[in-house]
Amino acid sequence: MAEATNALWAGRFSEAIADLAHRFSSSIALDGKLWREDIRGSIAHARMLGRTGIIDVHESDQIIAGLEVIAKEIESGVFQFDASMEDVHLAIEQRLTEQIGSVGGKVHTGRSRNDQIALDERLYLKRVLPNLNAGLSALIQQLLQIAEQHIDSLMPGYTHLQRAQPVLLSHHLLAYVEMFGRDIERLSDCIRRIDRSPLGAAAFAGTSYPLDRERTATELGFSSVLRNSIDAVSDRDYLIETVSVCSIIMMHLSRMADELVIWSTKEFGYATMSDSVTTGSSIMPQKKNPDMAELTRGKVGRVYGALVNLLTTMKALPLAYNRDMQEDKQPMFDAVETTGDSLEMMAFLLRETTFHSEKMSAEVQNDLLTATEIADYLTRKGIPFREAHGITGNIVAYAIENHMALPTIPLGVLQGFSTHIESDLFEYLDPRRSVDEKRSAGSTNPVMVRAEIVRWKQQLS
Ligand code: ARG
Repeated sequence: MAEATNALWAGRFSEAIADLAHRFSSSIALDGKLWREDIRGSIAHARMLGRTGIIDVHESDQIIAGLEVIAKEIESGVFQFDASMEDVHLAIEQRLTEQIGSVGGKVHTGRSRNDQIALDERLYLKRVLPNLNAGLSALIQQLLQIAEQHIDSLMPGYTHLQRAQPVLLSHHLLAYVEMFGRDIERLSDCIRRIDRSPLGAAAFAGTSYPLDRERTATELGFSSVLRNSIDAVSDRDYLIETVSVCSIIMMHLSRMADELVIWSTKEFGYATMSDSVTTGSSIMPQKKNPDMAELTRGKVGRVYGALVNLLTTMKALPLAYNRDMQEDKQPMFDAVETTGDSLEMMAFLLRETTFHSEKMSAEVQNDLLTATEIADYLTRKGIPFREAHGITGNIVAYAIENHMALPTIPLGVLQGFSTHIESDLFEYLDPRRSVDEKRSAGSTNPVMVRAEIVRWKQQLS
């Protein structure tokens, strides 16, 4: 069986490829997924060959019609790829020749599988990456909706996962909006560089046929053509960039997933996920596990793995095309699909999560989170900040020792720590006031947070 597809390049060979070598090198199981792109690219190439007079225009029409039939055959399952085929390019060309006769072989005039595969991958990414963009936008919309619902809810903000200062839950959620917003920017920047056609570079040196590269690029929706034929077939930066963007998206998702896991513990009690996104334990009947968030966190490893895979495959490869590069498909498909699925899952998970703002706000009230306000208060009264910090530290130590929240310490006691303290300090110890008082741009001040929500909504509409 192996001999069938080899026939397309077997002229100089007297023996057939060993079955083992065929199995080892066949990529059809992975690149078969690129059939739409492969056929689109071949149609554009054939049309250009006909219009430029490189082949007869009727032959070009025959080839195009044949390719259109094959597309329908693949779509409907009449033509299926099997393991005897080497790759998607040869499988389709061979089918074409079966259908329209030897004229089918003219489709490969002035072309190589080297420019063909680079073209297919670029077309594929141009088709699917907008889905990631849509996934990011949907996730941002979901975050904005929750931020709006909880616009004034207080929560303890953390550094080192230790309670630090009061913030608005909405402000916390908007931090994720910023991350995913940058991901959208990175993605469109990456798409800009994918959007260049390698078709016409042929094997790597170009070809003596007067191909019209601009014409095929335009028909296929590319903004421009790659300028160096060697680079056109040997570049895989576009894959590495795509998978880096995916890795950063996954890293962001993992931070959010991890917070959801932590927040839904009994210890925190800040969030509850609905039954539709949680699972039970086969042994512990009381369990309700946040598996969707954990899996998202876990899938990051796959995507980072894909990035390292591609970087390693490309490291030190001499110019131009090398067969090593065939190994690029599995990491590309897996990273893009995993990222798309994870974005969809996290938006859904957020929708299915209840945020317990009463609990968060109770935690803010009964603690030491406004200690920084005491230091700032004393500083405003002329005490150097370092000294104010020390006095406040003593007050905090007192609160801890006596199991008290800061606002419950009597004025007389506080004045024992500093004569500058007056009764107006209590206003500053109120977490709500602390949040309202924030004045620097981008802070957790509710007026600013509201304005940010409005700005993001406008930006996305
Ligand atoms: N299946 C190959 C790949 O994915 C296509 C290019 C093969 N080129 C070659 N000269 N063998 O990279």
